[in-house]
This record gives sequence, structure tokens and C-alpha cells, in this order.
Amino acid sequence: MSASEAGARLDPARVRADFPILDLQVNGKPLVYLDNAASAQMPQRVIDRIVRYQTREHSNIHRAVHYLSETATAEYEAARRSIQRLLNAASDREIIFTSGTTDAINLVMHGYGRKFVGEGDEIVVSAIEHHANIVPWQMLCEERGARLRVIPVNDAGELDFSAYRELLGPRTKLVAITHVSNALGTVVPVADYIAEAHRLGVPVLVDGAQAAPHLQVDVQALGCDFYAFSGHKMCGPTGIGVLYGRAEWLERMQPFKGGGDMILSVTFEKTTYNGLPFKFEAGTPPIMPAIALGEAVDYLLELGLANIARCEHELLAYATEEVARIPGLRVIGTAERKAAVLSMVMEGIHPHDLGTLLNEDGVAVRAGHHCAQPVMARYGIPATARASFAFYNTPGEVDTLVASLLRARKVFGLS
Ligand code: ALA
Repeated sequence: MSASEAGARLDPARVRADFPILDLQVNGKPLVYLDNAASAQMPQRVIDRIVRYQTREHSNIHRAVHYLSETATAEYEAARRSIQRLLNAASDREIIFTSGTTDAINLVMHGYGRKFVGEGDEIVVSAIEHHANIVPWQMLCEERGARLRVIPVNDAGELDFSAYRELLGPRTKLVAITHVSNALGTVVPVADYIAEAHRLGVPVLVDGAQAAPHLQVDVQALGCDFYAFSGHKMCGPTGIGVLYGRAEWLERMQPFKGGGDMILSVTFEKTTYNGLPFKFEAGTPPIMPAIALGEAVDYLLELGLANIARCEHELLAYATEEVARIPGLRVIGTAERKAAVLSMVMEGIHPHDLGTLLNEDGVAVRAGHHCAQPVMARYGIPATARASFAFYNTPGEVDTLVASLLRARKVFGLS
């Protein structure tokens, strides 16, 4: 389906035709794929792009003058410009390809943290972070004698802005905060958090892994210093992600990894580093995944992120309303602004058992702590069963989810 066909309003039933995997039968039932927060599916045009690259364009990049190398280089750099458009970054020099969100955050931890964070300094994170936006900062704090400060969250899953303001101070060296919680679905008003940190000259990293696929992100309007996301949650392949960084910071940071392509010259006495973004892309990068991600991003841009957000919002509202009538079911995460995530616990059924029973009906959800153990601890639960939506999910699939949840209650003798 093309953008012009899509019009202003997305029709999930029509968009589904772009995704061959959605025709799959699981346990003799039509697949209902509701694990998009873990990894989204890939449209045919991205699959085709991979085949074209591998059959007609593959070579190493930035290294040779032959036809294939120049073609692959041009396509890789075109993908970078697609990402620049997606994020409205000021320059493609600010777009660094990484292996994913985790890698992007670790890049900032090494490149910024190891240079600018010292003993007694503080890093502010929130209580609803994914482990990828906690553990690197803990490692840094341990190494540097710095301290992690945590913005608290209320029962609905919303961060406490006044507590955040109290946490900021002269020792704060970085704020690292999620845009959308993967476990709760909360959309954090990150622009407010960024403005507050900037009053003190503190840079802000935004973990956009769960936001970039679902919201229109404009890094210049947000004012963030770093923004990280993963390709495979954006209808692209695994093994590719992006770090957006403001050039002013990237210029001042030290490289994360050393090796080929990130240098201008090397002698045994001294190495000088390449300019942006290559200073942060050591070695042969994931060329095919980057090009495929560029194609996926073009696809999403054609559908329109605002259209995607609206369509998913309606679906989440419908699902929230429907599951509310299931006895014993509690939704974890009831923030006023949410995106695409419905985390559930069912009294009397462990989330893993729930996930297994839903799978019998072809319904794919993720059961577990969602790499956010502090969130589970905050709500006093070991895990949730999480349904996470994409623009290709339909109200009919929500009905199947609800029917399957009701069946699970029967199986457990709970009805
Ligand atoms: N971070 C991914 C999730 O939330 C894997 O499922």
C-alpha cells in the first residue's frame, strides 16, 4: 500500500497486505501479533530491499572506487538521510548507526560519560527505564564514584516532575530518560524534562526505542541532546539502531570504539579521528541492515507517523475499554498519555501461563519483566502479560485477545 493510497486515515486491514508474515497460522489459528514492542514485523518492500541489496549492490563501503562499493556507500548514506528526515535532525552528521538502542546508549556512556562524569557527579534516570537505560549508567557510576538519582513514578505510571526538579543540581551531569515506557506505555513529556535540565546546562539523552515507531519525533523541537532507537521495532531488521546526537556534543565526545573508518590518520605515535558521524562508526558497519532500515523509515514516513499514532491510539483505547470488563484483570500503567502498550496481570494466573494459553489461540504477547525489573518491583508484581500494538493491528484482533483472555480464565476455573 502506498502513502497516497493510505490517505490521512490508515486502514489497518489494508496495510496488513504489506506484511506477509501476518498471514501465518499459529496452532491452526490466524496469527494475532501483539508483541510489537519487542520487535515489529517487516513489510514486503523492506524484504525486497534486502534482496536487491544482496543480489545487486553488496560491497564494503567508504573504502573503494569500484561500482559496487560506490553504490553501497551511496545507499548507506541515503539511509542516513532518511533517518535525518524521520527525526528532523539538523544534519546527517548527527545520525550515527549503531547496533541498536542499547549500543547507542552505551556509546553515550563511553563517549560522554567517561569524559565528563567524575567523582561525586550525578546521573538522573527515571523509575520506568528499560535496563538498557539503567545498567550502563550504573556501570559508569561505579567506575567514576558517581551517583544515580531516580525520578519517582506514581501509581498510574506517570513521572513526578516536581521530584525531578528537586533532583537536578550542580552535580547533575546527564539526564537519561525514556520517551515511552516499554512496560507501561507511559508517554513522558520529555520536552519539559529537557527544558528543565537545559536551564542548568545539563544534556539529556532520550531512550526513544518505544517512541520512534509510534510518535512523530522532532529532535530539534524536543531540544534533546541524544536520541536513541532500534531498527527492528521500526519494521526494519535486527542489528541496526540509531543514535542522534547534537553535533556540539558529538564533537566534544571521545570515540566509543577504535578501528577502521573512524580515523583520519594513524601512526604508532598518534591517531587523529575522522569527522562526524564516522568518528563513531568504527569497522565495517551493518550496511545491509542500515539500508533496510532506511527503506522501513521511508515506508513509515509515507504512511505518516501522525497517522500511525492516531490509529494506534484508537486501538489502544478500544483494547483498554474491552479488557476492563474481564474479571480479575488489572492493567498496569494507566497514565493519561500512553502509546501502544497494554500490560496486564490476571488474578490467579501467572503472566507466563497466560502467555502460553494466549499462544494456543495464535495470540502473541510478551510475558515477563520486559527488561524493566525496577518497574515490576514498583508495582509489586513479578511480571505482566504485555500486548503491544502496531498500526497493522485491528479491532478484530483485540476481540480475539479478549476472547482468549476469557478462555484462559475458564481453563483456570476462574470464570
Ligand atoms: N525491549 C524490548 C521489549 O520491551 C525487547 O520487549
